[in-house]
Amino acid sequence: MESELLKLQAEAEESLQQITDVTQLEAFRVKYLGRKGGLLTGIMRQLKTVPAEDRPRLGQLANEVKQAVENAFEKQKEQLASQFSATAASKVDLSLPGRFLPFGKLHPVTQVMEEICSIFEGLGFAVAEGPDVETDYYNFEALNIPQHHPARDMHDTFYVTDSILLRTHTSPMQARIMEQQEPPLRYIAPGKVYRCDSDITHTPMFHQVEGFLVDRDVSFADLKGVLTSFTRTMFERELALRFRPSFFPFTEPSAEVDIACVICEGSGCRVCKRSGWLEILGAGLIDPEVLKMVGYDPDRFSGFAFGLGVERIAMLKYGIDDIRLYYENDLRFLSQF
Ligand code: FA5
Repeated sequence: MESELLKLQAEAEESLQQITDVTQLEAFRVKYLGRKGGLLTGIMRQLKTVPAEDRPRLGQLANEVKQAVENAFEKQKEQLASQFSATAASKVDLSLPGRFLPFGKLHPVTQVMEEICSIFEGLGFAVAEGPDVETDYYNFEALNIPQHHPARDMHDTFYVTDSILLRTHTSPMQARIMEQQEPPLRYIAPGKVYRCDSDITHTPMFHQVEGFLVDRDVSFADLKGVLTSFTRTMFERELALRFRPSFFPFTEPSAEVDIACVICEGSGCRVCKRSGWLEILGAGLIDPEVLKMVGYDPDRFSGFAFGLGVERIAMLKYGIDDIRLYYENDLRFLSQF
């Protein structure tokens, strides 16, 4: 056994010298030092069978051989590791240009939203933001829509509790701002709104920009002037606007405003439902009841308000015929803007 051990040590040390990569090194470990079936482990198991008087001496030798092979193995391992890092370092060419990651872009709806805000800022409107999770009071009551008012049905509201909801429009910001400040006021309030609604021109979450102005002697003509100026700048051309009489409990008189369909130029298409017009906003003169609720005197002050649909404007601006495309997260679509 003694000669067998010494032969194995010599053989192991020699074969370690030949090793040039980690795969060979691992094969070596399994062959000589492996717990199951390793050559050294095998010899050590045979110690049980040698005569008792030889066992201490052979046992000590076997341990010394094992230790020597293990040390040589570790040394070779370290040497390989240092050779590897030296070659890897010499292969890194710091003068090569880096790999470019594609740049992200703002979502088209965000881009249009920012553009809308900057146009109104240019007209002297200040920007204010409010909560998406709103109380029933600001979303309805303060806007002259009491409990059981039929206008509540038009909103397809997502309720959180009986008195908390996801705002269905940005109009609550009218009441929130007016109760904090005295006229004259000129504000826009952009943000997300939510309705249980989905088809090619409706999504359950969409964006509105609320706008309102309160001062002395504000008339419908002021509203028309502001909206005409806005569409002219937004679409960079004269586009026909159509004011249709409508009803909102918080404005009197009220109108829905359509813009000539820029997709079909008015001849009728899927998006404008063959009418040649697309509704982009609701508007009107602020109802005296709403002014009273925030403590303003309707005999001294009047105002106009409007709420426009940002996705609709973005559809017209970019000629998109299905609003749902904005929210499918398809990069082939989004990266075009
Ligand atoms: C309102 O939300 C009123 N708060 C607007 C208003 C403000 C009127 C101030 C008077 C004074 P309406 O429900 O019509 O009104 O929505 C306004 C605009 O949001 C619509 O013209 C349309 O462009 C857009 N819109 C409405 N529902 C959706 C929807 N589900 N998906 C995408 N856009 C929508």
